[in-house]
Amino acid sequence: MIKVMTVFGTRPEAIKMAPLVLALKKEPSIQCVLCVTAQHREMLDQVLELFDLIPDYDLNIMKPNQTIGMITSNVILGLEEVLEEVKPDIVLVHGDTTTTFATALAAFYHRVKVGHVEAGLRTYDKYSPFPEEVNRVLTGHIADLHFAPTERNRENLLKEGIPDEKIIVTGNTVIDALLTVAEKPYEFEDETLKALDFEKKRIITVTCHRRENLGENMEHIFSAIRDIAREFEDVEIVYPVHLNPKVREIADRILGSGERIHLIEPLTYQPFVNLMAKSYLIVTDSGGMQEEAPSLGKPVLVVRKETERPEALEAGTVKLAGVERDTIYGMIKTLLTEQEAYDEMARSSNPYGDGAACDRIVKQLKQL
Ligand code: UD1
Ligand code: UDP
Repeated sequence: MIKVMTVFGTRPEAIKMAPLVLALKKEPSIQCVLCVTAQHREMLDQVLELFDLIPDYDLNIMKPNQTIGMITSNVILGLEEVLEEVKPDIVLVHGDTTTTFATALAAFYHRVKVGHVEAGLRTYDKYSPFPEEVNRVLTGHIADLHFAPTERNRENLLKEGIPDEKIIVTGNTVIDALLTVAEKPYEFEDETLKALDFEKKRIITVTCHRRENLGENMEHIFSAIRDIAREFEDVEIVYPVHLNPKVREIADRILGSGERIHLIEPLTYQPFVNLMAKSYLIVTDSGGMQEEAPSLGKPVLVVRKETERPEALEAGTVKLAGVERDTIYGMIKTLLTEQEAYDEMARSSNPYGDGAACDRIVKQLKQL
């Protein structure tokens, strides 16, 4: 038996690790322990409930308006006891949040091996995304096994001196999660979504939360969206607003009273995937949604200066729109008025895998 402890704390980590935890639990030769840091509380619990996951340990660290330093220190301190008690053979972390980095560091301090899922994404700009770029570089240099979603991610790791035999290209587990959820029939329960006319209206789904966008960038992004809603009467904006109070203040101020703009609570993953699938267009600064959109064939305008997901750009489904009001407004308008430009982006492809990433990771772990 090997003892595998999975640790995550935020919504995107939970979505991408849930199918892996379920796959680990099915393996008789693996003892699977789940620890959540609860860097996010409500948004994490939504995912745990959807996938029927009950954590063995819950550090419950979230504080309103928490700083990166608070998250880092509380995760490291919280994990001391858990690592002592569980004594795992390997700890699995995901991606680039502060939970990810702090957990990898805590495991290293306890001389426990680390497996990094979604390894090798890079922008090479340490302030963008902030602090995620540095979180994933540091996690990569602590990790003993690297599960890279794509060949390009593998090459990024090789360039940093990570030995080839420690890297396994698996595809992204987000596709495993997406396929599990997308194949189930679903009717919206949310009143706003139920009332939307998806046939006659063009729905633009918006999400925005990145730390480096808080402030002026977010004001630009939301102003562009507000002006589009004013101009196009057949467009409805749906924005499930992230629970970060700093995001909520800007969203309420600029979009709150806008006609044809619906600010709603964060959706659980199943309604959210169905919303994306029925939308005309997606505007977001999320990382995960850039991976989901090519599978769904939905055009995505990414409101960031760069992306660590060039495969989605190459697939043609995703374009970088930057963080300037005029550029964002212009790019949304083009997709609303030029059919050819729209059709060129609305193509489905699978640069992030075939939905079997978790099986590949489990197979590798069994060889430990
Ligand atoms: C975090 C990650 C980011 C990831 C994002 C996904 C870090 C530093 N940031 O950013 O990489 O892309 O999650 O969403 O690791 N809040 C709640 N309830 C929740 C979640 C958040 O009230 O369920 C509020 C709290 O006031 C919290 C604040 O949002 O203090 C910010 O949460 P935090 O995890 O620090 O940052 P995110 O911007 O969510
Ligand atoms: N998502 C969700 N409900 C929402 C908004 C997003 O389930 O209301 C999903 C989305 O499909 C993606 C993930 O949450 O899988 C993205 O999370 P987030 O934007 O918080 O983080 P990021 O991807 O930027 O790290």
